[in-house]
Amino acid sequence: MANLFVSPLKKIKAEIHVPGDKSISHRAIMIGSLAGGRTRISNFLPSADCLATVECFRKLGIEVKIEDKQVEVYGKGLRGLKPSKETLNVGNSGTTIRLMAGILSGQPFTTQITGDDSIQRRPMRRIIDPLREMGASIEGRAEGNNIYAPLKISGGKLSPIEYELPVASAQVKSAILLAGLFAPGETTVIEKNHARDHTERMLSYFGAKIRGARITGLREFCGADIDIPGDLSSASFFMVAALLIPNSELLVRKVGVNPTRTGIIDVLHRMGADLQVKDEEIISDEPRANILVRSSKLKGIKISGEIIPRIIDEIPIIAVAATQAEGTTEIRGAEELRIKESDRISTISSELKKMGAVVKELEDGMVIKGPSALKGATVKSYGDHRVAMALAMAGLIAEGETIIEDTACIETSFPGFEKILNQIKS
Ligand code: S3P
Repeated sequence: MANLFVSPLKKIKAEIHVPGDKSISHRAIMIGSLAGGRTRISNFLPSADCLATVECFRKLGIEVKIEDKQVEVYGKGLRGLKPSKETLNVGNSGTTIRLMAGILSGQPFTTQITGDDSIQRRPMRRIIDPLREMGASIEGRAEGNNIYAPLKISGGKLSPIEYELPVASAQVKSAILLAGLFAPGETTVIEKNHARDHTERMLSYFGAKIRGARITGLREFCGADIDIPGDLSSASFFMVAALLIPNSELLVRKVGVNPTRTGIIDVLHRMGADLQVKDEEIISDEPRANILVRSSKLKGIKISGEIIPRIIDEIPIIAVAATQAEGTTEIRGAEELRIKESDRISTISSELKKMGAVVKELEDGMVIKGPSALKGATVKSYGDHRVAMALAMAGLIAEGETIIEDTACIETSFPGFEKILNQIKS
């Protein structure tokens, strides 16, 4: 339950690297475990969430060697996983439990899987419905209209399906595609709004037969070498800080700019940010670039519709930016935020209000009036890493000291966050 103390910062002049992408790191372990032979991963994110994925695969009989950010996974092919005697524990990681559920649905054995209190409050029917339709037997704790972890997954012979996603979710899409690896024929996911496509890209990179979100099952593929870009979601905290603090210039190097993730760049541009994406290159089928940000006068905008899945993890930090923008920022159609690591509409609104922000909560988003002078306060993370880091950035522009309570959760996605915070101060 560590606390983070943040004082105001006069300017940022820095060049930083942020740790590897969380979504891609999870997938590299999972797909590497199902591939035949060795997969070498560079710039892996050794955060609590991704290490939980590693532990799950170790329990399923896969050897994974980790040396800092270098990882080797000794995959045993589609039929190589062994039953785990123990319950798999995903900790705080929604991506682990939902994507693993897809993989476990294809295994000829039963697995129990669970996670921390927050995971046990997150809805699992969204993956259980399609996986049951494919033939898996999944039981969980039924409550109201939903089903929650712990889950008991008995896999086996699956049938391919064509499934239209009722919610834009990369986790649901990925669970179905990964289950599709174990079903004869083509499994197709249809999405109205495109969620992140790292699973599709990586399966294709490893040599699986996949086009868009249509996968052909029962085809083996080989291990590969993969280099992971920096996580744009992690970078966005410091990018917003540099925009808001006068006389600042920040260069973030080698950060992922997959178009299904760059909604934050589009939003900040629309708000008037001086932000340049430079030196773009594609490595391991994922684009990366250097991002240069200079302090800017921002204006309020309306945010809704197809962009929401492309900014879903960045809305807490967009809310911080909006407190400093001239005029009103309205975020709608973001009801998914209520079922993230915390109810992010409620948690970020209540804590920013404590700092003097003018925020109105809506059922599906929020309305923020700016600019308002923030004041240091004692605020809570609610155990949510992105809320903790967004509040830390608010602390950098507030008057006086901000104390963010319960910041151990930052480890779930951004080990070394405090180190970068200290680096940009010097
Ligand atoms: C993720 C998908 C998103 C995102 C999460 C990571 C992924 O969740 O919020 O942080 O790696 O697939 P949803 O699929 O629930 O929107």
